[in-house]
Amino acid sequence: MSRKDRLRKADPEVFNAIRSELRRRKEGLELIPSENITSKAVLEALGSILTDKYSEGYPGRRYYGGNQFIDVVENLAIERAKKAFGVPYANVQPYSGSPANMAVYFGVLSPGNVVMGQNLLDGGHLTHGWKTNFSSLFYKSIPYHVKKDGYIDLEEVERLAKENKPKLIWCGATSYPREFPFEALGRIADDVGAYFACDIAHIAGLIIGGAHKSPVPFAHIITTTTHKTLRGPRGGIIMVTEKGLKKDPELPNKIDKAIIPGLQGGPHNHQTAAIAVALAETLKPEFRDYASQVVKNARVLAYELMQRGLKLVSDGTDNHMMLVDLTSEGPGTGVFFQEALDMAGITVNKNTIPADPSSPFYPSGIRLGSPTVTTQGMKEDEMKLIAGFIAEVYSEVKKYRLPEGDKKEYLATFRQEIRRNRTLKRIRNEVKSLAKKFEIY
Ligand SMILES: Cc1ncc(COP(=O)(O)O)c(C=O)c1O
Repeated sequence: MSRKDRLRKADPEVFNAIRSELRRRKEGLELIPSENITSKAVLEALGSILTDKYSEGYPGRRYYGGNQFIDVVENLAIERAKKAFGVPYANVQPYSGSPANMAVYFGVLSPGNVVMGQNLLDGGHLTHGWKTNFSSLFYKSIPYHVKKDGYIDLEEVERLAKENKPKLIWCGATSYPREFPFEALGRIADDVGAYFACDIAHIAGLIIGGAHKSPVPFAHIITTTTHKTLRGPRGGIIMVTEKGLKKDPELPNKIDKAIIPGLQGGPHNHQTAAIAVALAETLKPEFRDYASQVVKNARVLAYELMQRGLKLVSDGTDNHMMLVDLTSEGPGTGVFFQEALDMAGITVNKNTIPADPSSPFYPSGIRLGSPTVTTQGMKEDEMKLIAGFIAEVYSEVKKYRLPEGDKKEYLATFRQEIRRNRTLKRIRNEVKSLAKKFEIY
């Protein structure tokens, strides 16, 4: 009996949901820039018996017996992370990106310390100081912003840093389509004596593959997720650089302690194994080709969208993602575009844009990117086709405007209309034919 059959017999409901998700992905185009497709080897490690084992502590110093093989796996993941990024220390136990960032706060700050990070509405992540997140509830958050042109406002960062004397400055974002100014922000952090932490969750794979500048010479601490451009399972890594060790030789110890006993219990060993496998994949020469193709594809997609009249934040991209600014269609219209694209088999996410006149739930933009379709083997020609699909969908939703008061009724009518829309149905079929040519499962 194959693995698949075992699940089908034991739990048909879960089996069917997974099968439907697989069909959805096979028949559509995934353009959410924080997603990717892991290899079968990664999936096999993730689905292994290592999930059963408790191993609180670190290799060679565990609180439980029987960890000799878990130590092998965790050491492999650590050594591969150090090699991939060129750093002297890595902790591979964070359950994901947010807990990794939380461990940095816990390791180097005391509650109430001042922290600076990119504002959420300007592309930053919740954990960089957003008002409803632990990072501003337990610490004093001073957000910095992007300028009208979409680039980080370095003058503002410098002024705010001098005025507020933060103990930690973050660089990194969840929706920022330009190369990060690691060097300039690192200099500002050094001038005010702050730790400089770079959260490379989105661009980790691009950095390993040489398609984005590395923060290693400028940062003290680096955090990342492992499941975006890095193409691994969900997970997180915290690293300390040589510069970080020079500033504070105790940093590795502080981070280790912040993870356990500070924040977590037993590491997810199956996840650690899958991270090790994914990191080994990133060390192969093919991964460099992948990373550079991700960026090439994003550039072509961005250019083609702009040629077709869509406005992009900062007028383009340097990395794997782009943000479509829909303010000319009225505030909050990202919801219409996302849902209509979904109807056409193209998955993106509605997203705030800098200085968004609407709210994060009804934002005025959408965010899209190239990592998944590049993993499938798509290149520049396919990007042109995809841009054509997106532009056609755009012209179908341009007429919808988000009402100020109750939105439910208007959205229900909109949903009925897009379900019946023939153009969207035709695009869905074309999307399906394209996706089928690049199936990887
Ligand atoms: C920059 C950045 N940091 C951290 C995270 C958090 O990662 P996770 O969702 O794994 O907690 C994300 C997720 O989107 C991110 O974009």
